[in-house]
Amino acid sequence: MQAINHIGIAVKSLEERLALYRALGLEVSGQEEVASQKVKVAMLPVRGTQIELLEPTAPDSPIAVAIEKRGEGLHHICFEVEDIRATMGQLKAAGFQLLSDEPRPGAHGSQVCFLHPKSGGGVLIELCQPAH
Ligand code: CO
Repeated sequence: MQAINHIGIAVKSLEERLALYRALGLEVSGQEEVASQKVKVAMLPVRGTQIELLEPTAPDSPIAVAIEKRGEGLHHICFEVEDIRATMGQLKAAGFQLLSDEPRPGAHGSQVCFLHPKSGGGVLIELCQPAH
């Protein structure tokens, strides 16, 4: 059974947006900068999943580009899988495009991969296999 690991939300300022999520009763479980993606990330657990707030740290960050095009808001949904390579193989075999041929290192030792936006029908989908 798949789980939704997190829902990614693009924000201009973590500090500014955290006020809202804190007022909703959520708490930050971890905050880190992911240099390879040029983002600062705050994770906020909610029952069964997490909200991932993403603030760009450079104008050429993928999140800065997304905010430029569509404004702040929902950015991606991340499905947690047990075997990311197997899921990537299934998607490729079914004719869907991925953004990378190999999983990439994600937060906390996880491995991640994004589907090509053209394959998502307007939904950007991330896969993640957590570290065990
Ligand atoms: Co994500």
